[in-house]
Amino acid sequence: MPIAPELIQEMQTYYHHRAAEYDASMDYDQPEVVAQLACVIERIRQLVAGKKVLEIACGPCFWTQHIYDCTHSVLATDYNQSTLDQAAFKQLPTDQVQLQQANAYHLSDIPTDFDAALAIDWLAHVPKSKMPSFLEGLHQHLHEQG
Ligand SMILES: C[S@@+](CC[C@H](N)C(=O)[O-])C[C@H]1O[C@@H](n2cnc3c(N)ncnc32)[C@H](O)[C@@H]1O
Repeated sequence: MPIAPELIQEMQTYYHHRAAEYDASMDYDQPEVVAQLACVIERIRQLVAGKKVLEIACGPCFWTQHIYDCTHSVLATDYNQSTLDQAAFKQLPTDQVQLQQANAYHLSDIPTDFDAALAIDWLAHVPKSKMPSFLEGLHQHLHEQG
């Protein structure tokens, strides 16, 4: 059964209000937590190394900040401008990390020349009924890999 649009809106509003405290609420400001995530971060770095990355639902860019330097570049997108405002406080280098407000389900304003996508803690928010169209839309922004 398709999920009610109000529930999706409620989730988006929830993250809007949580933006300023999101990283702390996930303990991303705790060095021991970041240390525990080191092997995950390292694996993502291997997968995106040298690539032009489209990041979906980046939030305040905790993951972006740990992987951007080995990529070609990252376009980090999120539905909520409030989360991007928090990401901007991280002062990631603008020649490698661009921030752009975008709805993951409507990516028409986004370029189509990426060769990797990153979407941490996002897929659980995609209702089953919207998964095929989300993935189809996302893949239109990715190059074929040889
Ligand atoms: C669980 S958080 C993940 C944030 C980040 N990826 C991380 O792991 O730290 C989910 C994010 O999805 C964003 N979001 C919700 N609906 C969205 C949509 N339709 N398009 C893009 N982002 C959306 C929220 O604003 C929130 O930042």
